[in-house]
Amino acid sequence: MKCRKCGGKASINMRQHRLALCKEHYIEWVPEQTERFIKKYGMFTQSEKILVAVSGGKDSLALWDILNRLGYHADGLYLGLGIDGGINYSHESQRLTEKFANKNNLILHVVDIEKEYGQPIPVLSEISHRGHGKPCAVCGLTKRHEMNRIARDLGYAVLATGHNLDDEAAVLFGNTLNWASEYLLRQGPVLPESEGLARKVKPLCRFYEREMTAYCLSRGIEYIYEECPFAEGSQSIYYKELLNQLETTRPGAKLTFYLRFLEARKSGNLFIEHEVGRAHLHPCPKCGQPTSTSDLCSFCRMIEKANVPV
Ligand code: AMP
Ligand code: FES
Ligand code: ZN
Ligand code: ZN
Repeated sequence: MKCRKCGGKASINMRQHRLALCKEHYIEWVPEQTERFIKKYGMFTQSEKILVAVSGGKDSLALWDILNRLGYHADGLYLGLGIDGGINYSHESQRLTEKFANKNNLILHVVDIEKEYGQPIPVLSEISHRGHGKPCAVCGLTKRHEMNRIARDLGYAVLATGHNLDDEAAVLFGNTLNWASEYLLRQGPVLPESEGLARKVKPLCRFYEREMTAYCLSRGIEYIYEECPFAEGSQSIYYKELLNQLETTRPGAKLTFYLRFLEARKSGNLFIEHEVGRAHLHPCPKCGQPTSTSDLCSFCRMIEKANVPV
C-alpha cells in the first residue's frame, strides 16, 4: 500500500476514506481535517480560550496536541477521580498527562475530587447509593459538573473533550435503540453555551478510534493504554463491539451512521416533535449551575447524600 501524497510506504490505510498515507503525511492530515471540522461546525475561533479535558487517554492527549499544533489557545484540565482498580489507573493517567504538559510547555489545571469533596469517586458512589454498585454514574455526573464549574470559574469560553467517532456512534446507537429523543436532539459536535455554561465541543468526533491510536503512535505521545477498570462489561463497550462488527463488513458504516444523523438533525428531519426542555431550567441554589429539578442539582444532591462537607 502506497501513500497517496508521496508514493512512499503507507503506514495507515483508511478504508472508509479510501485513503492510505505514510506516517509523515498522516500527522499532517489529522490536524488539517480537525481544522476543517472546527470550521464546518463553528466550534471556536483563534481568539477564544479553550479548556481541553484531558484524561491521559489517547483521544484527549491527541486533541490537546492537535489544537496546539493548530495554534489555538488550549489549556488542559485533569480531574483526579481517585480510581485505582488494581492498576493505579488515576495515578498513572495523571502522571502521563502532566508529562505531556511539561514536555510541551502547556498549562494544566489539576483538580482532585477527593480534595474538593472529601472522598474519591468510588467512595462517593458507594455512600450516595447511586448507580447500582458501579461508580460510573457518579463519575459521569461529577466529571460533567466539574468541567462546567472549572470552565466557568476560570473564564474559558469553550470546553473541548476527546470524544471520537466510536464514542459518538455508540452513544447514538444507544439513544436510537431507546428512541431517547431529548438526548438525540442534544447530541452533536457542538453544544452551544447557555446560562453560565461554556460551549462544549468535540473536535475529534469524525475520527475513528484507531486513527487516534495511530496519531499518538506516530507523534510519540505516551498515553494510558488501559481503559477505566470499571468500564469492563459496560453497555457502551458492547455497542462499540457491535458497531465494529458492522464496520468490518461495511467499511464506513459507523461514519455514515453518525454523519447522516447529523444531517437529519440539522434539516429538522428527526421526526421528533418536542423542543429540548430548556425553558424551565433554574440555577441550583448551591452551585449555580442550571438544573431542571426544583431544588439542588443532581450533583449537589449526590454530594449531600454522600454526607460529605463540601
Ligand atoms: P470518557 O467519558 O472516559 O469516555 O471520556 C470522554 C472525554 O472526557 C475524554 O476524551 C476527555 O476529554 C474527558 N475526560 C475523561 N476523563 C477525564 C478526566 N479524568 N479528566 C479530564 N477529562 C476527562
Ligand atoms: Fe469514571 Fe470509569 S468510573 S472513568
Ligand atoms: Zn507520504
Ligand atoms: Zn448544584
